[in-house]
Amino acid sequence: MKAIQVGLLGIGTVGSGTFNVLNRNQEEIKRRAGRGIEIAMVADLDTARAQSVVGDKVKVVNDARAVIANPDIDIVVELIGGYGIARQLVMEAIEAGKHVVTANKALLAVHGTEIFAAASAKGVMVAFEAAVAGGIPIIKALREGLTANSIQWIAGIINGTTNFILSEMRDKGLDFDVVLKEAQRLGYAEADPTFDIEGVDAAHKATIMSAIAFGIPVQFDKAYVEGITRLGAVDLKYAEQLGYRIKLLGITKRTAKGIELRTHPSLVPAKRLIANVEGAMNAVMVQGDAVGTTLYYGKGAGSEPTASAVIADLVDITRLHTADAAQRVPHLAFQPDAMSDLPVLPMSEVVTSYYLRLRVADEAGVIAKVTGILASQSISIDAMLQREADEVGGEGSTQTDLIILTHDTVEGTMNAAIAQMQALPTVLAPITRIRKEELA
Ligand code: HSE
Repeated sequence: MKAIQVGLLGIGTVGSGTFNVLNRNQEEIKRRAGRGIEIAMVADLDTARAQSVVGDKVKVVNDARAVIANPDIDIVVELIGGYGIARQLVMEAIEAGKHVVTANKALLAVHGTEIFAAASAKGVMVAFEAAVAGGIPIIKALREGLTANSIQWIAGIINGTTNFILSEMRDKGLDFDVVLKEAQRLGYAEADPTFDIEGVDAAHKATIMSAIAFGIPVQFDKAYVEGITRLGAVDLKYAEQLGYRIKLLGITKRTAKGIELRTHPSLVPAKRLIANVEGAMNAVMVQGDAVGTTLYYGKGAGSEPTASAVIADLVDITRLHTADAAQRVPHLAFQPDAMSDLPVLPMSEVVTSYYLRLRVADEAGVIAKVTGILASQSISIDAMLQREADEVGGEGSTQTDLIILTHDTVEGTMNAAIAQMQALPTVLAPITRIRKEELA
């Protein structure tokens, strides 16, 4: 049988990896897929570079629409990124009856509902394993491997850039700005790292996982997003002293009131496996009612790890494209007419525990006032740590850090308590609040 024909839109890092891995492993992939998978056409603005990657036998053009319009192409792989032209091209490819593979988490987190609806109407597949956690097959695990389960929660380190920065901050005792510059110099962080360090990239991925886990529409606009830019090395140090590590987690959780969907730095017990995921690696924990806790670990980015996910999608489509559309795995795991209308909760209704760091005057009665405010809001303290003033501010210092770990409370209640504590004249700097997840 003739090989299935694939057109690539964009051949940068992931596209090159896809081409190389497909070539290298073509015999095994063919034995698995049931027929060959061939990259027949590539669109890239830099045609000379693209041609040098794929050689003379593959047609290279600078117009993505020429790939979409080619009747021989069965699958279009979108590797352009962003929500602009990529969105138009994906919609046009679907309209042209092509199956689509994409690594574009931003596009799916924001416009997924429209894209999946168009694909279902047209009877084509949109596959996106590479969009979440790169080479880790977490979409496959959630959508198929864990299909027996009522998923309770997912918590993932799903941004390698920020995990690298946090690992360096902890190892070397350096502050965020210093480590970011070094990460950029080494190529671990982009020249414009905004989406990574502000938590947006991780929130895109958490949004996609949330939709698949709970059968809700993708709703990035409802996600709470907080990055790592305000973390100090001192917080990582205090967390360590209390038995925790700080990780940027993408979290989505089922509660009695609705779905939590949030990305923010979190204290995680140092003894958890996920707390020991270092450098640019990714890991996702999934809690299902039947299976219990599962953990998926691997490379979340990079040429061949991401290509591994793209090619898995190509194989899936190759196996299934002649099947009745109703027999295929639904895009978001649940049948389109069986989606849930569970609300995504505002952050003020989220329940979690907290790490608070207060820079306070080292004088009588300060702790009593602070703990009095927490007690008045019915916030229970789990642990407290106060360093000697000399250690914090140098010899003769009259200031110190007070670190408080709380039990679970509602975020809105914690906001009110922080506002009251911040108003105390003996609280000398903005209070640092980091959420804490036991992940038990
Ligand atoms: N920028 C992402 C990261 C990789 O740092 O993990 C692509 O999703």
